[in-house]
Amino acid sequence: MNLLEAIDLRQSRRAYLPQPMDPSQLTKLKSEIEHFNNESGLSIQLVEDGSEAFSGFNLGYGMFQGVRSYLALVGKTSDEHLKEKAGYYGEKLVLEATKLGLGTCWVGGTFNRNRCACNLQEDETLALIITIGAIPAKKPFRENAIYKLAHRGTKSLEQLYTADAPVPDWFLNGIKCVQKAPSAVNLQPVLFHFEKGTVWAEVKNASSYQLVDLGIAKLHFELGAGNGSFERGNRGKYSINQL
Ligand SMILES: Cc1cc2nc3c(=O)[nH]c(=O)nc-3n(C[C@H](O)[C@H](O)[C@H](O)COP(=O)(O)O)c2cc1C
Repeated sequence: MNLLEAIDLRQSRRAYLPQPMDPSQLTKLKSEIEHFNNESGLSIQLVEDGSEAFSGFNLGYGMFQGVRSYLALVGKTSDEHLKEKAGYYGEKLVLEATKLGLGTCWVGGTFNRNRCACNLQEDETLALIITIGAIPAKKPFRENAIYKLAHRGTKSLEQLYTADAPVPDWFLNGIKCVQKAPSAVNLQPVLFHFEKGTVWAEVKNASSYQLVDLGIAKLHFELGAGNGSFERGNRGKYSINQL
């Protein structure tokens, strides 16, 4: 499975099987985490046995079942791009986990932060977590009901961008992958712009989880467009790779 296929397959999964992840899955995940931490300056941690963080959160939206493990997205409090990087690199790990046949779900609110079993230094902040683990192939009835509650409608491609001219195929391929990206309460708040040949992405409310959504959406755009990368920051620009 490649990353584009993983984008197609991924859905938030909130009910996990009791068994731990396989040693081969753990080895692969740990090596990816180390690689992304070196690249980003984040301190992402895999908490293998962390069910405590979900005690007390068992009603309504965000109801999880059987969570054992999660990725704690930790970084320096002083890092001005902490939330966006958590989104970008966390979603890289989500797609790797999907390739390994594991289920994942981003969790910003519906877990107990005080019971998160990650190591936090004084100068660090826990941005949010991603549950990860073995899942049944088909969603159990209760999980499916919560999924429908959380997912709501998906925006059309046209609602995800503005353009001052007909857009090239690579831009549209990027937007198609953005349409499938996870976002907090599925708001899909990231708006892409194609103006005078320049591409940039923005969110309106940078004080919420929308900066995490921004990092996730930028990664999906890059993977779909396949010809460049974004600079960090709200309203960051896209640069096309030089051949
Ligand atoms: C930044 C962020 C925070 C989220 N927080 C929660 C949460 O607290 N609880 C929860 O159940 N789902 C949470 N989600 C998952 C979203 O509800 C889910 O991604 C969205 O409904 C789209 O569904 P999909 O991931 O299956 O495409 C969060 C997602 C993101 C990106």
